[in-house]
Amino acid sequence: MARAVAGRMPRPFRRHGKRRVNTLAPGACRAYVTAMTDAPLIPPSPTAEDYAAAPPPDDAAFFATGDPLALFAEWMALAREREPNDPNAMALATADETGAPDVRMVLLKGFDAAGFSFFTNLESAKGRQLGSNLQAALCFHWKSLRRQVRVRGAVEPVSGAEADAYFASRARDSRIGAWASAQSRPLEGRFALERDIAATALKFGLGDIPRPPFWSGYRIVPLRIEFWRDRPFRLHDRLVFERTAPDAAWMTTRLYP
Ligand SMILES: Cc1cc2nc3c(=O)[nH]c(=O)nc-3n(C[C@H](O)[C@H](O)[C@H](O)COP(=O)(O)O)c2cc1C
Repeated sequence: MARAVAGRMPRPFRRHGKRRVNTLAPGACRAYVTAMTDAPLIPPSPTAEDYAAAPPPDDAAFFATGDPLALFAEWMALAREREPNDPNAMALATADETGAPDVRMVLLKGFDAAGFSFFTNLESAKGRQLGSNLQAALCFHWKSLRRQVRVRGAVEPVSGAEADAYFASRARDSRIGAWASAQSRPLEGRFALERDIAATALKFGLGDIPRPPFWSGYRIVPLRIEFWRDRPFRLHDRLVFERTAPDAAWMTTRLYP
């Protein structure tokens, strides 16, 4: 941070005559944050004119939807057209055995009536957390669409055949990387990783690279899916689909923003 705003950031201590004054003392913090940059880092709230420029949403179609997967597919298709990178990226929230939450991005690799799936190293932090607590939440945020989807549910491992099929579809170097990376555990440095990758590549030679036993996927079986879309003046639309069990019917509720 200090380097990024070099020349503009005030030193924490300033001289006032013979006195050294800590500009970071309580009460001085606000001035310090303001002085760090000339341009505001946080964008201002939209104005009435900004909101007036936004196209009106198609209310009837959105709230008439009875099938959350069809709606999700529709939004994902739009995200695929509009998002510059990784429209299938989603925040995956898990909790460890003490209940402490954790969250990170992963890529959605499939969705259907059974749930939403992703792949990872089973010995990673998320893998260990899911090992002790098979519950998770997902959050998609498509900035260019100004839409969000939240999913909550129980988690189940995908089948070996499903994981094999996805693993086989990945680039050879990604498959080697999956073997070489002890995901979420301490790494000495880039050299150590490259050494492990070289050793793995040598081990497999020109042969097939099977899926590592510690690498697979999980499926979140949704009991709740919330669709959120931006509306002017923060009076957003929220539509929740809930069911009591994976084979029960979906019930819908609108929520205050
Ligand atoms: C856009 C994006 C997509 C990612 N996709 C995956 C993924 O599909 N699987 C995965 O294991 N990590 C993925 N990562 C890396 C994770 O965010 C995370 O760094 C890694 O899985 C280790 O997380 P953990 O220590 O909580 O287990 C992705 C990161 C980003 C930013």
